[in-house]
Amino acid sequence: MQNADPIAEFMAKTETSLQDGTFVRLVLSGSLQPSDGVERVTVRKVQLRQVPHLAVTFKRRTNDVAKNIPLERGMGWLEEQMQGAWKNALLGTTQKDWQLHFPRNGQPQLSSHKPAIVTAPAPKHDRERVRLLDAAANDWLAALGVAEANGRVLPSMADKHRQINRYLEILSHLLDDCGWRPGQPLNIADMGCGKGYLTFAAWHWLRRTKNSPVEVLGVESRADLVEKTNGIAKEIGAEGLTFLEGTIDQARIKDIEVLIALHACNTATDEAIRRGTEMRAKLIVVAPCCHKEVRPQLQHPTVLAPVLRHGVMEERMAEWVTDGLRALYLEWAGYKTKVFEFVSSEHTPKNLMIAAVREGEPFTDHAARERIEELKNFFGIKKHSLDTLLRVPIPEK
Ligand SMILES: C[S@@+](CC[C@H](N)C(=O)[O-])C[C@H]1O[C@@H](n2cnc3c(N)ncnc32)[C@H](O)[C@@H]1O
Repeated sequence: MQNADPIAEFMAKTETSLQDGTFVRLVLSGSLQPSDGVERVTVRKVQLRQVPHLAVTFKRRTNDVAKNIPLERGMGWLEEQMQGAWKNALLGTTQKDWQLHFPRNGQPQLSSHKPAIVTAPAPKHDRERVRLLDAAANDWLAALGVAEANGRVLPSMADKHRQINRYLEILSHLLDDCGWRPGQPLNIADMGCGKGYLTFAAWHWLRRTKNSPVEVLGVESRADLVEKTNGIAKEIGAEGLTFLEGTIDQARIKDIEVLIALHACNTATDEAIRRGTEMRAKLIVVAPCCHKEVRPQLQHPTVLAPVLRHGVMEERMAEWVTDGLRALYLEWAGYKTKVFEFVSSEHTPKNLMIAAVREGEPFTDHAARERIEELKNFFGIKKHSLDTLLRVPIPEK
């Protein structure tokens, strides 16, 4: 028998399964709004700070974007998705799978099938996120003031500890993307490494956890920090980990396959990108910090002018343009880029990460170069620190 209101019934089944613990997942597929670039959406249930949330993953062609929505608001959001955004919605429960199909013409159709998965996933908890730092990390975490000697994370450093784990999680995926496998050698430079939290973390995970012959170099302009981090590395016997006093643009480094620069100030991020592209690093990962170069140059295109007269909008647009251009320069240099938030914005607003995996020949894609020029011209930008990359002559066709 055809349901009177298949959407209402699908939503009711979803709500019931979320309440009674039989919910497995919900998948939206067959986008009817291709312009937004999202090809598929997967919804799971998670517990964040003891509050149930929908963990939603938006799958795009080039990257995935994850969002956690409190359950109540999430149900409203889900209901909106049922209004002509998708061709199919699949609800997986441990009892039955429910398929809601939206035909091109006619009424939505709801059907049920045997469940593909018969046990509900263990409720995921924010504190149960992937933790790549094991107890063996306690020595350097304690020396850096993140944890006590027994591994208990200091409350004031909980965000930093979470950030380190998240960073390792991302790094592990990116290394996989660029073809590195555990056991293989690798040379990494962490430019503007500061106190070395993430440098120690990368070294720890690659050397101690993955038992790989990896060399990690931290470059930092502050001599006091370099002295301290080298001291800790020596104290814990960190073979393959070194800190070097120097600047990002001039430090003597060679044979780098992975270049990282997290929160290096202003155009230091660009210097890191330039060095990474010049050395043809396999992987370049930057998380920009303050953005000062573009804003004073930013002109207000007519349509945007009424919005950009608000200082905060102009500031955000300047950041957007700066980082957008960085991704475009990397593409011109032959890299495939992903831009995403690397920690939740509630922990730090400086949470944008640009990851670039070497893909093709550098400086040969005319269209990639034109995209840079067009964006610069649109906003009247005359000078960008990465313009050095544009000096590379374009080969004849
Ligand atoms: C905000 S801290 C970030 C530290 C570390 N990357 C992290 O994310 O935890 C920026 C560090 O970069 C260093 N730095 C900034 N510009 C630099 C440059 N041009 N060369 C070397 N180090 C630089 C600063 O001294 C500072 O320690």
